[in-house]
Amino acid sequence: MEKSEWIWMNGDFVAWDDAKVHVLTHGLHYGSGVFEGIRCYESQDGPAIFRHREHLERLAKSAELYYLTIPYSVGELRDATHELIRRNGLESCYIRPLAFRGYGEMGLYAQSTPVEVAIAVWPWGVYLGEEGKRKGVRAKVSSWRRISPDSLVTQAKASGHYLNSILAKLETTHAGFQEAIMLDHSGFVSEASGENIFIVRDGEIATPPAGAILDGITRKTVIKIAHDLGYEVIERAIAPSELTLAQEVFLTGTAAELVPVREVDEHLIGDPGEVTRTLQAKLDDALHGRAQEYAGWLDIVEQPSKVTT
Ligand SMILES: Cc1ncc(COP(=O)(O)O)c(C=O)c1O
Repeated sequence: MEKSEWIWMNGDFVAWDDAKVHVLTHGLHYGSGVFEGIRCYESQDGPAIFRHREHLERLAKSAELYYLTIPYSVGELRDATHELIRRNGLESCYIRPLAFRGYGEMGLYAQSTPVEVAIAVWPWGVYLGEEGKRKGVRAKVSSWRRISPDSLVTQAKASGHYLNSILAKLETTHAGFQEAIMLDHSGFVSEASGENIFIVRDGEIATPPAGAILDGITRKTVIKIAHDLGYEVIERAIAPSELTLAQEVFLTGTAAELVPVREVDEHLIGDPGEVTRTLQAKLDDALHGRAQEYAGWLDIVEQPSKVTT
């Protein structure tokens, strides 16, 4: 991965190579952490963080759901992120805030063990590649089911949850595919290992309901854009067979953005269709500050004003 110079950790800016934790950190042993994936894009007004507040509020909510008390407010984390981007001199970057139970009392209860918080920023290209974004990726339905809401808080973005995504990702990558689609505990389509999923079938855009998935911020963004463009989006249970019956399938997520799926389980869906391309183009405009109507989604990182004499 590409390094940057500074990381924010527990209130201080530390050099990238010095951002370390103790080996007995609770989160390392039990997955007791929550995190966010956020992107900052170059825009004509300066670095622009997409839906920053929503991401930080989700971080706070994820923490609360797992009984982690973050000792910083959303406003403080926002300010720290702005300063971090400025210090690292980045115009665009991926932003990874992380809150985890740190070093102290071991064992599962460990409520007295402090919660540590870090924010890292670094340049990171689209997760499934530029070619994937343009031509579509090959996806496979994993044999691993998505974690169920009666075992974990599926709406939280928690570190431990990602063992589930890692199993699915490894299985499908080893089988020669680029992304894993997971079914839920009832056998309906749930989401991909790191993205939400949509299908376009006979003129209808459908996506699984938000109940037991990670309710993605890009998912909500795309639903809003689709409505604004006059499309109807239905949140409903999707049977696995519909993935191959659909005319279009696409994935949405902060890291991947909007990625067409060209093949599922070796059934060809084909080149990105019209709905996918239209939504992708509008989302790209919104992300890069080219869509005036969505300017409110961008949190601009102010640069220190130039002193003029
Ligand atoms: C499992 C999972 N689903 C969906 C998403 C998409 O969420 P968002 O659009 O908020 O990045 C992500 C990425 O954060 C994810 O890890």
